Amino acid sequence: MDDDSLAALEERMSAANLRGQWQMDSNRPQKVSKDQTGVTRVEPVPAGSTHVWRWHDVQPLLESACVAMPESFTARRALILSNPGLQRGTTHTLIASIQTVRPGEIAWSHRHVINALRFSIQGSEKVLTVVDGRELIMEPHDLILTPGWAWHDHHNESDQDAIWLDALDVPFTLALNQQFYEELGEKAQARVLTDQDAPLFRTALVAPDPTARPYRYAWRHMRQRIEGVSDADAWHGSRVEYINPLSGGPILPTIAAYVQVLPPGFDGLFHRSTASEIAFIIEGQGEVRLEDKSVSWSEKDCLALPNWSKRRFVNSSKSDRAVLFVLTDKPILDAFGYLKTEREETDARRAGGVRRAAAE
Ligand SMILES: [Fe+2]
Repeated sequence: MDDDSLAALEERMSAANLRGQWQMDSNRPQKVSKDQTGVTRVEPVPAGSTHVWRWHDVQPLLESACVAMPESFTARRALILSNPGLQRGTTHTLIASIQTVRPGEIAWSHRHVINALRFSIQGSEKVLTVVDGRELIMEPHDLILTPGWAWHDHHNESDQDAIWLDALDVPFTLALNQQFYEELGEKAQARVLTDQDAPLFRTALVAPDPTARPYRYAWRHMRQRIEGVSDADAWHGSRVEYINPLSGGPILPTIAAYVQVLPPGFDGLFHRSTASEIAFIIEGQGEVRLEDKSVSWSEKDCLALPNWSKRRFVNSSKSDRAVLFVLTDKPILDAFGYLKTEREETDARRAGGVRRAAAE
């Protein structure tokens, strides 16, 4: 007699490379719940862990990498911040790493469709990244863009190690199976422009040239900008975004970046977003508080902040501000209308701890 059970059907379907939509995928990272009326709701679970890489752990390993890898070559001498809760990446869409180029070295020229940025930690006017022929100096806390498919090589012409944070959209690009990469075949490309050569004006009616934009955001300008910001919200403190002045939008198609300032004693409210973030601590010390744990941080530490994890920021100092460089995959979510945020309301604590989430 034929077995007409559902289990038997599913087995026959599987043999034919078919699967019922009713068959739950237990590997799918989602939280399924039913409300009081029995209505099913699904939401993502945070991808990866909230994690801190402490500078005092990273820095000696970086020094050892300089001994173990005598020259950086085209494979960069970069230590990737691997999230312990993920198979790949610092978040599920982005990777960050800490890279060193020693005095006299060149990290060879290459290009890839992956978008990338560098945030200088230890540098000077003698540390350079060349992007599509543009010579961009890397002083401490300068931000340098290497957009997708732009040739780039890094030069340390100073007498001390150059160190920076790299951030790239590697996991996102690999998930789309779009990995194109090539080497120039020369150590370095020709330098034909300096950063100041980027045109500031164009003739009316001429379409904007997408390459006529800054590739270097000097810290001295951002530092002035954050000095002038006095308004802090209850969730993030103050955030100043780096923008593409041609579009008014984010600096890269897949990555936006901010400088976030937590005033002295800042004790922020809970919030979460479907965007994931990575932070580098420029100055100060504090904590990221989650619902079940707290992660402390101080200067030069790096943080992975997964999507859809409820968190709040605390500045541990009552006298000094904390300043964070924050990058996020928000532009990817904006492009498809996926971005969703929730914020604990400002008056929730005053109302006796009743916490309500407000969708934006
Ligand atoms: Fe690269």
